[in-house]
Formats: sequence, structure tokens, C-alpha cells
Amino acid sequence: MSIIEVNHLTKKYGTTEVLKDINLEIYQGEVFGFVGHNGAGKSTFIHTITGITNKSSGSFTIMGFSDRQLNHVKKRIGVMPDVSNLYENMKGLNFLRYMGKLAGDKRNKPELKTLMKEVGLEGAAQKKIKSYSFGMKKKICIAQALLGNPDLIILDEPTSGIDPESAIKIRDLVIKLKEEGKTIFLTSHNLDEIDKVSDRVGILSDGEIKKLGTPRQLKEDKGAGVTISVRTKPILQKDDIQKLSEKMNTDIIFMEAKRDSTLLQVPSEEDLPEVSKKIIQSDVHLYEMKIEERSLEEVFMNA
Ligand SMILES: Nc1ncnc2c1ncn2[C@@H]1O[C@H](COP(=O)(O)OP(=O)(O)O)[C@@H](O)[C@H]1O
Ligand SMILES: [Mg+2]
Repeated sequence: MSIIEVNHLTKKYGTTEVLKDINLEIYQGEVFGFVGHNGAGKSTFIHTITGITNKSSGSFTIMGFSDRQLNHVKKRIGVMPDVSNLYENMKGLNFLRYMGKLAGDKRNKPELKTLMKEVGLEGAAQKKIKSYSFGMKKKICIAQALLGNPDLIILDEPTSGIDPESAIKIRDLVIKLKEEGKTIFLTSHNLDEIDKVSDRVGILSDGEIKKLGTPRQLKEDKGAGVTISVRTKPILQKDDIQKLSEKMNTDIIFMEAKRDSTLLQVPSEEDLPEVSKKIIQSDVHLYEMKIEERSLEEVFMNA
């Protein structure tokens, strides 16, 4: 079942089309990562589907409600607010209590402290928000998005500007929320993070979705194939790979012969069993064969 459904959505600021014909479905219970460079349109997308700004054309629904009916579902959506909208003079815990009441959150003080701990704000409950670092402000924004126990959680760059240790905490939190059955939509320009946490990833570039799929699908994307490292004795040379390619009637590309292994590329992961079989049947001894993961970064760069 889809929680968010977007059809031919465009958003213009003046004459600039910031979102161009976006089509996207976000399914119940998934973690969806929206990746893109600065200025790609990630925040604009979030602002448009949450009603902070109006669409220019196209349509979308959230949990079956159209943009005109968003008020019916707002309570079920947790959106991470902008850091600049925090009440700086309030202490962290008091701020969450206050916002929690508005969101109909049932948590008591100790439970809110637990929430603060989960986002990495242990010990900051009694400190005024204006004394928080940028990273801490981001964390309290994440905590705020979780108030009211929403079914859909939208986090805009939750880990940017946050130290690596806290970023891992946020990632664990996202996984925990998913296990609780939440649907999570998050954006990032940190592909590494998106890779680890997302069920599906969309790559937004210049207001358009250039790629969409599971991290694995994107890495295996057409044209690039799968790179494997094969350790044999003796090591396979270019000629051997050519022969292998002919035998299998598959495009196997020789990339590099290293000291104790050979790098080659096969069209897809599905070719691996046959490749290993053919190598074993040949005169060389096979010691190891492993996929050299193409990083999402590469996919991203090519988007
Ligand atoms: N309120 C606005 N008015 C005019 N242009 C805007 C506004 N908000 C964003 N933009 C422009 O839209 C583009 C996408 O911005 P944004 O959605 O913030 O990208 P991202 O979040 O991916 O970094 C940028 O070129 C930005 O300058
Ligand atoms: Mg942004």
C-alpha cells in the first residue's frame, strides 16, 4: 500500500522549475532515501508534499488524502522542522513537552528524556536550546518529528552537520522506527548513510528523479555491470578472460590483473555462479571470488 503517491508534480519558484514532473510512490513501512546535491530540490519536495508551499501542477496524495485534504492527515505525519524555527529560550525537555502537547503526545517527562537519549541528546534536557550546538538542534528537531507517534516520518537531512557517532545513533533510530512499522522518508547528500538504512533510494538531480530502486539495484544499474575480484593461482590474464567470455557467451570484461587477483566485470550478479563454475573447470585454482561493491557515490555521480 502506498503512503505517498505523487503524480507529475511540478513546483516553480518564479519562472524556475525546481521540481520537474516528479512521479513517486512511497510504500507503507519502508525507509525511502531521497538523495541529491545541494539545490537539487529535496527540501522543496518535502515542503510541497507537506503543504508548507503550494505545488505548481500535478497531484499527490498522502495516506489517500489529496493536497486539499492534508489537514486530515497532518497529525499522522511527523516532519522534522527547520532548525531556525526552534524556541531558543526554552530548555530542551520543556520544548518537547510543549510541542508534544500540541501534537497530542502522551509521553511523560521520563519518556521524553528517553526520546532525547534516543536521538543523542542525553544530558541536554535542562539546557536552553540557544546553548545547543547545530548538531544538537538538529537532534531536537528529529525528536520533535517523532512527537505524537506519527505513522509517516519525514526527515530532511537528519544527519548533515552531525558528528559520526550521532549519525550512527540516528541511523539506529530510523531502523527502530521502521521495525515499529513506521514509514520513513529521509533526504541526504550522504550516500553512505542512505545506502545502509534505506529500502529504496531515489536520486534527485536538478529537480528530476534520475534513478530509483533498491541500493543494490542502483549499484547494479545497467551499463556498469558488477565488478568482481577473483583470486586464483595462477592469476587470470586478459586472454583467459576473453576465453571465459566466449565460453559463456556473456560479456565479461577484463579490467585489471593485480598481484594475486584479477578484476573483471560481468553484466549482472546472476552471472556469478556460471563464472565460478567455468573457472573451477579450467586449469586454475580458485581461492576467492567477491563482488567489489560499486559505491552509490559512483551511481550518484553518473545520475
Ligand atoms: N522559497 C524559495 N524561493 C525561491 N527559490 C527557492 C526557494 N526555495 C528553494 N529555492 C530554490 O530551489 C532549488 C532547490 O532548493 P532546495 O529544495 O532547497 O534543494 P535541496 O534541499 O535539495 O538542497 C534551489 O535552486 C533553491 O535556490
Ligand atoms: Mg535541503
